[in-house]
Amino acid sequence: MPGVFQAGTICVVQARMVILVGSRGRGSNMANLVTACSDGRLAADPVLVICARIDAPACAVATQLGITVEVVSPKSESYASGLMRVLESARPTVICLAGYMSLLPRIVVQAFAGRILNIHPALLPKYGGKGMYGMHVHEAVLAHGESESGCTVHLVTEEYDEGAILLQKRCEVLSDDTVETLAARVLQLEHQAYPEAVATLLAGVKS
Ligand code: GRF
Repeated sequence: MPGVFQAGTICVVQARMVILVGSRGRGSNMANLVTACSDGRLAADPVLVICARIDAPACAVATQLGITVEVVSPKSESYASGLMRVLESARPTVICLAGYMSLLPRIVVQAFAGRILNIHPALLPKYGGKGMYGMHVHEAVLAHGESESGCTVHLVTEEYDEGAILLQKRCEVLSDDTVETLAARVLQLEHQAYPEAVATLLAGVKS
């Protein structure tokens, strides 16, 4: 599935990365993954960003970064077939969800099994599942008096936050943490963890 071109007798294979962003996300993980491709942390081409809505903030960030953007609405009747068509034409080696809020259709999960990743701002299996997103996650961590939090990169299945865990990074929860300070500390970890996890996955993907 990765792009291949011939350079003399050397066959160069470059992984193709597609990133899905949600309608409200800032796009910081998406931008970080794109930067990781240009600064050498990741040997991949960010070939496409798929947005849930054209007016999503992350959509504008992707456009500024010069990445091709396509809109596929999870609310559309043709969500499954539309997403499948866009993905098949992008030929991704790896698909990264970054603030994408909707469940992926079964046909997509099955077609790209083992190649779809998500990042979650807590130490799964704790504080995951439907309704556990954004600040709700950090509110719950603080409400339960946890002494540590962090982020998780995991494979995507047809359920929220349930796939195999690939990488976790941890941080202390401080006694004077607010939702905002904890979220900021976890986001820094996310920006380290996601490129690392993608690199690990790509190292194991057969080209
Ligand atoms: C991140 O906290 C990520 O863990 C979660 O959604 C948030 C997206 O943030 N899945 P951003 O849009 O990447 O800044």
